Amino acid sequence: MVICLCNGMSDGDVRTAAANGATRPKEVYDCCGGRAQCGGCTATILHILREMPGEKAQA
Ligand code: FES
Repeated sequence: MVICLCNGMSDGDVRTAAANGATRPKEVYDCCGGRAQCGGCTATILHILREMPGEKAQA
C-alpha cells in the first residue's frame, strides 16, 4: 500500500528502511531516496515504525 504519495513509498518500503536501521521519518525518506515534502505521511510512518518489534521510533 502506498503511504507516501510525494515519494511513492509503500508500507513495505518503510518496514525495509526500519529493518535497515531507520528510526525516524527522515531516515526512512533517506533510505528510500526521497525527502520530506508535504509531511502528510509522517504520522503513518511513525505508526509503522512503532509497530516494528524492537524498534524505538523517534519523531
Ligand atoms: S505524502 Fe509523504 S511527504 Fe507527502
